[in-house]
Amino acid sequence: MDTLLDRTVIPGYTRIGYGLRSRSWPSDDPAPGSLAGKTAVVTGARSGLGKATAAGLARLGAAVHLVVRDASRAADTLAELQRDIPDATFVVDECDISDLDAVRRYAAGLTGPIHALVHNAGVMPARRTESPQGHELTLATHVLGPLLLTELLRPNLTDGRVILITSGGMYTQPLPADPEYRDEPYRGATAYARSKRIQVAVTPLLAADLAPTFVATTHPGWSETPGLTDSLPGFTKLTKPFLRTPEEGADTTVWLAATQPAPPTGKFWHDRRTRPTHYLKRTQESPEALDAIWTYCRRAAGI
Ligand SMILES: NC(=O)c1ccc[n+]([C@@H]2O[C@H](COP(=O)([O-])OP(=O)(O)OC[C@H]3O[C@@H](n4cnc5c(N)ncnc54)[C@H](OP(=O)(O)O)[C@@H]3O)[C@@H](O)[C@H]2O)c1
Repeated sequence: MDTLLDRTVIPGYTRIGYGLRSRSWPSDDPAPGSLAGKTAVVTGARSGLGKATAAGLARLGAAVHLVVRDASRAADTLAELQRDIPDATFVVDECDISDLDAVRRYAAGLTGPIHALVHNAGVMPARRTESPQGHELTLATHVLGPLLLTELLRPNLTDGRVILITSGGMYTQPLPADPEYRDEPYRGATAYARSKRIQVAVTPLLAADLAPTFVATTHPGWSETPGLTDSLPGFTKLTKPFLRTPEEGADTTVWLAATQPAPPTGKFWHDRRTRPTHYLKRTQESPEALDAIWTYCRRAAGI
């Protein structure tokens, strides 16, 4: 049933898939208080899945850094989280993850062990947009900023878990030969899916590089969030009754951050299970293409 839901995509990514799969999970839930005394950093935590992830980690006892682009716009988020989880500690940090200079400044100010670093910030711009360093924005936000932040926090993460939030949309795209999307007419959804494909493809390499630090990518299915509504209004309207809540979409992220013992590193997850990274032959990458994108992204990130 689980595999059938995954391969047929639509039921699996919706609340139907979540509802059916989650029946077998209670014994697998992280223990209450399992993150007590630990610190988590969640990017894009002002809304949607990031906010739900922050709440889930805080409920397990973690002190959570909410990484947002504009702290003044995060005041309502902070107030809601503090109201819902009064005993928790939240810190609002400003950092534009697509801006490599901002990432460097941010990382320099973080001290102490970090148990969970969740790269959740996401964008799907309608037009080709560049980051302050001149990188295409989805690449900068989903890949370059997260790689750099992870690298700079390496000493803080020795016992930690790094989790990248990708999208099932990555199944439609191979690794791009033109990662900055300069050579053909721009399509935001394609750029988004390509950058999400890169996240999944480089995860085993990042895991090997960071070991023993745990690394995972996960895709949340389809969840009703401001990001989904703004980027894909027609899709959201059509699928609204079937969309997951942000909490359901964030479940596997929280589980990956907290479950004991740590799951195997370097894998791609959805609904608490590892999943295939390809369904289409045309999206398979060669070892040379993977090596080229890994090298390009690390250099572009300034690593
Ligand atoms: N919802 C879904 O069904 C779905 C499906 C597949 C994958 N995802 C992925 O899940 C993640 C969360 O998406 P969501 O649906 O929760 O969307 P969302 O509500 O729009 O949340 C995305 C968050 O990312 C932040 N962000 C964007 N660019 C940033 C940057 N450069 N630096 C720091 N923060 C930045 C946004 O901050 P501001 O508040 O400043 O705008 C926003 O809070 C994304 O990576 C998305 O690709 C979502």
